[in-house]
Amino acid sequence: MTSALKGRRVALAVSGSIAAYKAVLVARLLVTAGAQVQTLFTRSASQFVGAQTFAGVTGRPVLSEMFAPGAAGEPHVDIARESELMLIVPATADLLARLAGGRADDLVAATALCSTCPVVAAPAMHPAMWAHPATQRNLRTLTGDARVHLVGPVDGEVASGERGLGRMAEPDAIVAAALAALAPRDLVGRHLVVTAGPTIEDIDPVRFLSNRSSGKMGFAIAARARARGADVTLIAGPTPLPTPAGVTRIDVRSALDMQAAVGRALGAALDAADALVMAAAVGDYRPTSTHDQKLKRTADALELGLTPNPDILAAVGAARRGVRPVLVGFAVEAAGDAQVLAYARAKLDSKRVDVVVANHAADAFGKDDNRVTLVTRDGAQALAPGPKSELADPILDFVAKKLEEPG
Ligand SMILES: Cc1cc2nc3c(=O)[nH]c(=O)nc-3n(C[C@H](O)[C@H](O)[C@H](O)COP(=O)(O)O)c2cc1C
Repeated sequence: MTSALKGRRVALAVSGSIAAYKAVLVARLLVTAGAQVQTLFTRSASQFVGAQTFAGVTGRPVLSEMFAPGAAGEPHVDIARESELMLIVPATADLLARLAGGRADDLVAATALCSTCPVVAAPAMHPAMWAHPATQRNLRTLTGDARVHLVGPVDGEVASGERGLGRMAEPDAIVAAALAALAPRDLVGRHLVVTAGPTIEDIDPVRFLSNRSSGKMGFAIAARARARGADVTLIAGPTPLPTPAGVTRIDVRSALDMQAAVGRALGAALDAADALVMAAAVGDYRPTSTHDQKLKRTADALELGLTPNPDILAAVGAARRGVRPVLVGFAVEAAGDAQVLAYARAKLDSKRVDVVVANHAADAFGKDDNRVTLVTRDGAQALAPGPKSELADPILDFVAKKLEEPG
């Protein structure tokens, strides 16, 4: 989870659907990421889930009454003013209809009508309700009125046991949508090419050379760049990681495949992308010859000839005229801090890139967390150690700032 939710104030509105139990998981994910969550119930929500559960998870009592006995002020106005995001999980057909009609007949609808923050709704309903022209009309009104972003529904099994479009998006996807709604939109209109993961160099049909890269750093950067509004092309070496929502993924295997895919994504004149983030661990060497048949075991020693792979980033750095695309390199070394920084500084010049993200192999490979230093011509900035998803934003802050400079 990313720090982008730390301290953010989220109003989580729950309405009357069986899927309401999943809103507990959403609340849990938000709270774990540091968000302050105020749960609101529609009148029927408590038929499906318990207010105590949400109070326990969020540390705040659930609010459901406009006219709570003894309460002062206007709760819908206060909640709307204080919230940076309103998340409706699940959103019933009835609630969507009331919101589309501009109704304010319960605390949830009144808060939504009063809010100026983004509203993200996760519809959940029987596929027939979803497909009904009235629901579709309401959705057009809601999304057309801006501020209401939909996440899901998805195709799958619904509470009745039937299948179809109407099943609520999963909690992870809902939190990703919340993050996107809260993200700064400073990369809108930009195209970022991000590489991630290892490359694989085949020796024969069953053996290969590769490295320990998981792809997590590059995938985190791609997801956050997308959340910040960029068009993202993610060129991924072999990794089982899921594709971040809204990102165009191109799967490759070898360093040569990756070079070709990067070339296509940047265009011959390097003008098809605004930035290239080379987070992939591209193999430095490939076997001089690849065997079609499995090499047979013998009693003799086997010498494997290795040919250097092209340095993709250095080639782009050498070909770049001017300051676009912004170039971000990574330097991973198994050495002490001073040595890692020295390598990173050397890479900055030898590859003619704008920033090198320096990290240690022991901290980086396969882990969810990392410890990195951004090395630029102006100096070195050590980032607070943390999850890769949290490190993605400061790296993208650098890219966004560079893109504001004249091209
Ligand atoms: C068992 C049960 C499950 C329901 N599930 C849904 C649902 O998934 N989606 C939906 O739109 N309505 C569903 N409804 C109908 C809503 O609960 C009903 O329209 C209610 O008025 C919604 O009020 P609210 O949106 O203010 O919570 C369900 C009703 C029952 C009895």
